[in-house]
Amino acid sequence: MLQLPARPHLPAAVAAAVAADYERFAAELPPDLPDYLLERYRVDVSGEYAGRRVRSCFGKASGQLSLNLRQVERDAEAGLGFVVLKTVIAQDETGSQSMAAWAIQETHMHVERIVGPRTGREGWSVTWKGRGWWDTFEKYLELCRDAAAVGDQAGMVVAPSVKYHLPTPEEPGFKEAEYVHTTRALLDVWGESHDGPLPLEKDFSPTLAGSEKSRQEEQILTWLRTVPRLIKGADPRPVCLGMKLMNALFEDGFQRDMLRAVIDEADPAPDFLIYANRLFDPRKEFEGKVGVAYGGPDLSERNLSVLEAMQGEAYRRPVPPISGTGDILDGRTAVEYGLRGCTSFQMHTLFQLPDDQFRATMANRTARGLHHLYLHPETGLVAWMVHLREVGGGGVVGVRDLPGIGQ
Ligand SMILES: Cc1cc2nc3c(=O)[nH]c(=O)nc-3n(C[C@H](O)[C@H](O)[C@H](O)COP(=O)(O)O)c2cc1C
Repeated sequence: MLQLPARPHLPAAVAAAVAADYERFAAELPPDLPDYLLERYRVDVSGEYAGRRVRSCFGKASGQLSLNLRQVERDAEAGLGFVVLKTVIAQDETGSQSMAAWAIQETHMHVERIVGPRTGREGWSVTWKGRGWWDTFEKYLELCRDAAAVGDQAGMVVAPSVKYHLPTPEEPGFKEAEYVHTTRALLDVWGESHDGPLPLEKDFSPTLAGSEKSRQEEQILTWLRTVPRLIKGADPRPVCLGMKLMNALFEDGFQRDMLRAVIDEADPAPDFLIYANRLFDPRKEFEGKVGVAYGGPDLSERNLSVLEAMQGEAYRRPVPPISGTGDILDGRTAVEYGLRGCTSFQMHTLFQLPDDQFRATMANRTARGLHHLYLHPETGLVAWMVHLREVGGGGVVGVRDLPGIGQ
């Protein structure tokens, strides 16, 4: 694996240009930043998400920052490549949700500095007690419809995210009616104005990893092998399915078992993967709840090490495209994910950091985040892509080439 030094090695003229652009665009991004970066730096920042080429490799991960239309509009204005809507809890035709415990309202979030228990490194994490979409399914469908229209206008992919029923060893058997009803309803809305496959993420929330249910490794593997068939088999219309893997409480070896289950054993295979949702700390307490999900440096360290180990594995089937998530707070970390196989990156925590973490001053937080991700002179994507070009010997260098460069 190609190791990145602490700082990018750039020709002096490029370093000066990046530093100048960092200042120049602090108040407002150029109207077409990807085009600008291609022309000025010969860096292609397009990515791949849900089987589509996206203009920007950076997207917003599912969560509290994608649960209303205003947020999606601002993301479109800022130039995000894609947005994953807040996870909805599946239901059957009678409105029954077997995962109803996940549909609770909780708005209070705590953005905090943390020292990762695993790495000892300092970083940022967001703590909260909430889970999935808590409003009605009809409201969710409305958001899907309106948000997709905003996305279509801006060339930004908008994907719903669903938590479908997952059985336990005590109560085996998938509630297939929830798979069918929820997937069909999403397809109906999508089909009103689109011909191609519905982009869809299936969330395996890390909060599940702390409950008795998911302590059973075999149960988790059964979920991973079975869920793609239930979603894709719910309706003849096509779904471009992404499985968002979680970090289970077990060893790294189990993460690799999970990947094998989903890549080689699920039938059909999913179309893409999202790797990987947050860690779970069964001892950490937050507002009276013991056991919460956390992110930060431990999350990126673990995700990157598992993705790196994956490169040495022999799979029977091709590894699907991967969208990386987890502690991506700068362009350098995105490049690290890219070198380990990812062709797009999705963030949540970055967009919640305090204002003083950003040089940019515009009101749109997503735009501030993108300015930082792309243009920071030492940690930004452009600087690191140019670094890789210098190492590799010239030409246009693109985010979608990163997995090949990392091999
Ligand atoms: C407050 C909060 C809410 C989240 N809600 C969801 C969710 O509903 N569905 C989901 O798939 N992931 C959810 N996530 C996980 C994020 O989508 C993301 O994958 C994860 O936080 C790692 O990225 P980050 O380090 O940039 O935050 C949530 C994360 C946070 C912090």
